[in-house]
Amino acid sequence: MPASAQRKILVTSALPYANGSLHLGHLLEQVQTDIWVRFQKSRGHHCLYVCADDAHGTAIMLTAEKLGITPEQQIENIKREHMRDSAGFLIGFDNFHTTHSEENRFWSETIYQRLKDNDHIASRAITQAFDPEKQLFLADRFIKGTCPRCKTADQYGDNCEACGATYSPTDLIDPVSAISGAKPIEKESIHFFFKLPEFEGMLKEWLASDTLQPQVANKLREWTDAGLQEWDISRDAPYFGFEIPGEPGKYFYVWLDAPIGYIASFQNYCDRTGHPFDEYWQRGGDTELYHFIGKDIINFHGLFWPAMLQSAGLRAPSAIYAHGFLTVNGTKMSKSRGTFIKASTYLEHLDAQYLRYYFAAKLSGSVDDIDLNLEDFVQRVNSDVVGKVVNIASRCAGFLRNKFDNTLSDRCSEATMVESFIEAGEAIAQLYEQREFNKAIREIIALADRANQYIDEKKPWALAKQEGAAQEVHDVCSVGINLFRVLMTYLKPVLPAMAEKSEAFLQCSLDWTALQSPLVAHALAEFQPLLTRIDPKQVAAMIEASKETQAEAAPPAEKTKTKTKKAKPAAATAPADTIEFDDFAKIDLRIAEIVAAEDVEGADKLLRLTLNLGEHGDQKQVFAGIKSAYQPEALVGKLTVMVANLAPRKMRFGVSEGMVLAAGPGDEEIFLLEPHAGAKPGMQVK
Ligand code: 2FM
Ligand code: ZN
Repeated sequence: MPASAQRKILVTSALPYANGSLHLGHLLEQVQTDIWVRFQKSRGHHCLYVCADDAHGTAIMLTAEKLGITPEQQIENIKREHMRDSAGFLIGFDNFHTTHSEENRFWSETIYQRLKDNDHIASRAITQAFDPEKQLFLADRFIKGTCPRCKTADQYGDNCEACGATYSPTDLIDPVSAISGAKPIEKESIHFFFKLPEFEGMLKEWLASDTLQPQVANKLREWTDAGLQEWDISRDAPYFGFEIPGEPGKYFYVWLDAPIGYIASFQNYCDRTGHPFDEYWQRGGDTELYHFIGKDIINFHGLFWPAMLQSAGLRAPSAIYAHGFLTVNGTKMSKSRGTFIKASTYLEHLDAQYLRYYFAAKLSGSVDDIDLNLEDFVQRVNSDVVGKVVNIASRCAGFLRNKFDNTLSDRCSEATMVESFIEAGEAIAQLYEQREFNKAIREIIALADRANQYIDEKKPWALAKQEGAAQEVHDVCSVGINLFRVLMTYLKPVLPAMAEKSEAFLQCSLDWTALQSPLVAHALAEFQPLLTRIDPKQVAAMIEASKETQAEAAPPAEKTKTKTKKAKPAAATAPADTIEFDDFAKIDLRIAEIVAAEDVEGADKLLRLTLNLGEHGDQKQVFAGIKSAYQPEALVGKLTVMVANLAPRKMRFGVSEGMVLAAGPGDEEIFLLEPHAGAKPGMQVK
């Protein structure tokens, strides 16, 4: 490739929080990014992939406190774990750093100073909920209380999981701090704001420029159309982060210094290796910058970040590539079903390349969600990778070793076919470039089908038994190996370990740039097994190992994101609220038979239950927030205990006429009563 055609590309994926283990959702993004980076490298471009841990925020501080360690120890431990797990998935970071670093402090302070010099920082007092016991301000999600709409207890400060209402924490009935259980008070303090509205013109242009995926630009336009607000970029002590220079007790909000972590990680790489830094971040250079992210964080990357970069005199990203969420077997990952799969658990049971291949076969350039269907996963990997691609090499390698001294024929008897495989590389490269990996895989597997068809037609195993057909056997198997070489070149970004083994066998490098003509009279090395089939038992064992009981399943706290929903803060010690006996006596608990259970359209967490309360056909409809734990079909015919005298309440989906009591992790282990002679619908439980 002429030097002028070599692109200089810097790529990032979102910085994982240093507050919990990586799971398959993180890996979807890292695998997508890694495939794209490996592809660019294979095309001869200069491409660097940097990432880091996102190490600041209240949640990390609280986790460390709970574990009895310092936040520094916590983020160090998690960084080691994250690096180990990403490496296990063959993610080839050129650098993995942390936002709690001197490089990041330098760049956060520098950028903040530039914003301030340009009069893009405002400050004013705001009133917020404050935990008087812990002496800290409470983000919305650190406040719990009763939903003002449906009156469900124990809801977080920004939305109700039972009825889906969104509100502000001041609307909650009986709010308490989710950290200490104390009643929050209102308290004023000075905050610093980034003057986002001043960038309205620039952002509208950026949204109209085709830099972003259409769905992403549309979503972000909702923000600009609604009128941009100043962005609160400070938090008060105690906070784990960087103190704002000249503002004692005020810290940069974690979302300010997180994307700056991209710059800091790259700086760290350059300092380590002597690679030039400036040309990647100055405006108007010839380098390219891409951020791979999930669709839940597009506002930070598509609005706040380009505006900050503009004010700081730094380049804008060439593009932001957002992907959708990962579901498993069609639904949200669930700890009780064992589909919330940690990266390390996966690696204990399965080869990383299986999942890399499956993700590639499903990923496109859009923000559509990706489903990991476990049956399809086994079937597809076994059929495509092992049954089709590996098969080509293993069918030919034996003959070449046993009869032809492991050397390819000195002529290519099917030059046209091999060349057509090589020519297909341009279209496949375009698909990789556009992140249409699913289409690229489809093309590659169609070529694999053609290669297998060729071998099937030629039947080298039959020829080998014929007198005088040795040359033909040699030619056919040599063509097969040449076709395999082309296919593995195209698959190398997805299956790097298998490609490495293939390179050792083929004695040549499998890069796009090395694919010009067929190999002839070329010596091979010993053929080693490349990849074995997935045994469905391995998948079952992984799911079993991922199952957690409710008690274990309290998710680690994550930092709040404006207008996005994420995992909830760690289970708090609830205040010891008590009721009097008279209150208890008012509750009419009855045994009810679940006669129907079905999903509720538009509600993620609810099931509509029809409950039979006795022989007089007394039926009640109840909406229960138990969908994540139970399969509706499995509930039918079971007995449960219900609060029968709860006042009916109108929900978005209909009227709910009671509450069911359920316990246990769900699925098989639901602690409902099995029908038996002693328990009958309608019986009172007191
Ligand atoms: O959503 C997240 O997991 C964040 N930790 C991503 C940060 S990306 C970047 F801005 F640092
Ligand atoms: Zn509610």
